[in-house]
Amino acid sequence: MFELVSPTLEYKEKAIDFINEFYEYKSEMNGVGGLYRYLNDYEGWLEKLEKDKKQPVTEERVPAETYFLVRKEDDKIIGMINIRLALNEEFKKLNGNIGYCIRPTERGKGYNNINLYLGLKKCKEHGIKDVLLTVDKDNEPSKKTVLRFNPRFEREYFEEKKYKTIIQLYWINVDEGIKLWESEH
Ligand SMILES: CC(C)(COP(=O)(O)OP(=O)(O)OC[C@H]1O[C@@H](n2cnc3c(N)ncnc32)[C@H](O)[C@@H]1OP(=O)(O)O)[C@@H](O)C(=O)NCCC(=O)NCCS
Repeated sequence: MFELVSPTLEYKEKAIDFINEFYEYKSEMNGVGGLYRYLNDYEGWLEKLEKDKKQPVTEERVPAETYFLVRKEDDKIIGMINIRLALNEEFKKLNGNIGYCIRPTERGKGYNNINLYLGLKKCKEHGIKDVLLTVDKDNEPSKKTVLRFNPRFEREYFEEKKYKTIIQLYWINVDEGIKLWESEH
């Protein structure tokens, strides 16, 4: 019913429409690979994504892949997910391995659980064994998504520079998370 699709030119209009929906609903976005900065240069964004994949780990940047969560029956972009293939010190504290979002009009239907399950399968393809998920303690839907995959809680701390909120760190074992989901579906 759903698949993670690497962005291509064919999705240009749908991708712009996807981002505009977040602006319309004044919603936060995560895991969109900076697409909102490229609404007038989608082709440039596709090039950026290629560079992101090959990015060496530095103090500021890490390698990453970005996908559309596409509903197969109507080929609609429902969500996005950004998978960081390696972490630097900053990402180990703040961003973790995965960022995601579901478009505002499709929320609350369990789609982000599917997004994360499919993301874990991508992690497995990359040989990543454990993934770090960082969530804002007050972001219930995001926290609940992570908790579905039986994570190990590492710690929480007050992040004072960027978000001014309590950030929780969770580790999901990729194999176990996939197995758990598949045993329930
Ligand atoms: C976080 C986000 C991706 C969740 O997407 P979603 O499709 O609504 O999530 P789902 O429907 O798959 O629900 C995931 C879990 O949250 C619960 N949930 C959904 N909406 C909720 C709400 N408003 N309040 C409390 N729980 C909620 C669901 O019941 C589900 O838990 P369950 O499986 O134990 O029943 C979406 O709200 C979003 O894009 N937010 C903006 C970006 C963002 O915050 N990203 C995360 C940054 S870490």
